[in-house]
Amino acid sequence: MSALSTTFDVIKEENRMQQYLLDPGFALTLRPMRYPVFYEMYRDAIRNTWTVEEIDFGIDLNDLRNKLAPADRHLIERLVAFFATGDSIVANNLVLNLYKHINAPEARMYLSRQLYEEALHVQFYLTLLDAYIPDATRRNEAFAAIESIPSIRAKADFCFRWMDSIDALDKLETREHRRQFLLNLICFACCVEGLFFFAAFAYVWFLRSRGLLPGLAAGTNWVFRDESGHMAFAFEVIRTARQEDPGLFDAGMERDVRKMMHEAIEVEAIFADDVLSGGVNGLSPQEMRQYLMYVADQRLTALGMVPEFGAKNPFPFLDLQDVQELTNFFERRVSAYQVGINGAVAFDDVF
Ligand SMILES: [Fe+2]
Ligand SMILES: [Fe+2]
Repeated sequence: MSALSTTFDVIKEENRMQQYLLDPGFALTLRPMRYPVFYEMYRDAIRNTWTVEEIDFGIDLNDLRNKLAPADRHLIERLVAFFATGDSIVANNLVLNLYKHINAPEARMYLSRQLYEEALHVQFYLTLLDAYIPDATRRNEAFAAIESIPSIRAKADFCFRWMDSIDALDKLETREHRRQFLLNLICFACCVEGLFFFAAFAYVWFLRSRGLLPGLAAGTNWVFRDESGHMAFAFEVIRTARQEDPGLFDAGMERDVRKMMHEAIEVEAIFADDVLSGGVNGLSPQEMRQYLMYVADQRLTALGMVPEFGAKNPFPFLDLQDVQELTNFFERRVSAYQVGINGAVAFDDVF
């Protein structure tokens, strides 16, 4: 970069009006509202409220006891072990890194709602693990998976690296700071929520396509809808920041995003090798890798970038996901049945 353009950048930094989304501060004024789109996202999210108590794990428990092969059990065991901590990591990043820097009260309303949804997801997986693993010792082992299972530890380490990368950033004072912030946001939206979680959902829907674990699938449908909203919000933040500072996404930034995406795929592919190591009928690590590349391309496209992998979706059982999810949601609302799971757990040795 020439000295002239560096000087020009400095002048531009100094002349920035205090009105952009990523400018430091805690704006409080909702009228006139600068970003109504975030307020509408908040309202949409409120309309999609669900509760863990609406989910019936009764059939799941019978499936776990009577229908699953050892390889399927290993898959479930790894999956719930990942679920046990994934949403807590996302919630922590939201509080520690996102809320601080996205400076519009209407956007912070959405983040507050997202934080509630992440807590709901944590509650869902906590309830699921308590139901699936009645034995206290084995249950504790599942919750400790982040330390004891290398393929899950690697995913957590990936997240922590990106959280640590902006740990010391109290204020976004330069364009470089804003890039670091956006890389963290992109990491969590595209790699953690948008890739790690989507891979986990695919395992659940694969099992559902075999008629297994409808309780897990029902909750996953609702978590999926929430996560899709979280990603949409992140993409809107990125789009807005870019519109307000078109120089933000330069070649170096794009290179970093692609590198991050490759790294996330490798980490998730190692997890897939572990999850499927028992030889699950109808699902191979190669197909999962292809699915990861397909999803990664969708995320890059959403960022306005050229796709990297050119992979097709290898899983026909995902084709109708959106439609099915919505149908289930509205059917649930109409019938509005609720089945508590308290007292329904009375067997040992699920895994
Ligand atoms: Fe979540
Ligand atoms: Fe999320």
